[in-house]
Amino acid sequence: MSGYEPGFQGRVCLVTGAASGIGRATARLLADLGGQVVATDRNGGGLAALAAQVTAEGGTVTCVEGDVSRPQDVQRMVDTAVKEFGRLDVAVANAGILPLSDVLETTPEQWDEVMAVDGRGMFLTCRQAIAAMRTQESGGALVCVSSVSGVAGQARQAAYGPAKFVATGLTKHLAVEWAAHGIRVNAVAPGTIRTERVIALRDEPGGRQYLETVSRAHPMNRLGEPEEVAQAIAFLASPAASFITGAVLPVDGGYLAQ
Ligand code: NAI
Repeated sequence: MSGYEPGFQGRVCLVTGAASGIGRATARLLADLGGQVVATDRNGGGLAALAAQVTAEGGTVTCVEGDVSRPQDVQRMVDTAVKEFGRLDVAVANAGILPLSDVLETTPEQWDEVMAVDGRGMFLTCRQAIAAMRTQESGGALVCVSSVSGVAGQARQAAYGPAKFVATGLTKHLAVEWAAHGIRVNAVAPGTIRTERVIALRDEPGGRQYLETVSRAHPMNRLGEPEEVAQAIAFLASPAASFITGAVLPVDGGYLAQ
């Protein structure tokens, strides 16, 4: 048996929501491990900053601006990978929005907005990636970014939490649907991670109190770092996880173990 195989040398890796937070850390790590990264986001300026950073670190990245809730945009993201590099080996469905509200505060419009990005966007990314991977003999690996809120209930996540259950559900169903084709589908379930979005919560109504409470709720008594989630994503996407599919891996400082 060969040794531990975390490398991504020559593998074509799509990452959505790569301009910030967990997505940016993942794109940087996969590029650092030798991957040919296709970084996508609706924030073009953030993508340009990522590209400059990856280039300075000696890696390469191709950027595609687009919205994961729009089928034609997601198709363009995947087509770019296939046209430029001939294949798609890894897709990380990460783009998401994280609103905090209870069920009475949540309007039908807010529900639709979260479901459009975190639900429909995740579905479209998986769908388009699998359409490309199914034609490859070597299959592929998808990693969906769910959340502890996609595994267990939390207060004030009346729309976001159910949208994250979509990520968990897609992971399990698609894993079974595509296992025989050599396509693995796994998810990470991060606890609260110190990304731009979470730092910004401090300035929102109830946000500071929410963060203090949630930080204490992690047995490791701290928030996670984007790089810690990126490491788990890279493992699930790598050949080292070749017999793992349909798994939802907590990256949560023990939150879900309670
Ligand atoms: P972030 O806000 O720092 O980064 C999200 C990125 O997604 C941004 O660059 C944003 O422009 C992009 N994005 C948003 N909507 C998009 C759309 N419709 N099309 C294309 N790009 C879009 O957020 P963060 O914290 O890095 O979150 C990333 C993922 O991790 C999300 O799916 C989130 O639900 C999940 N997550 C985050 C946790 C946290 O505590 N930060 C905890 C658990 C899960």
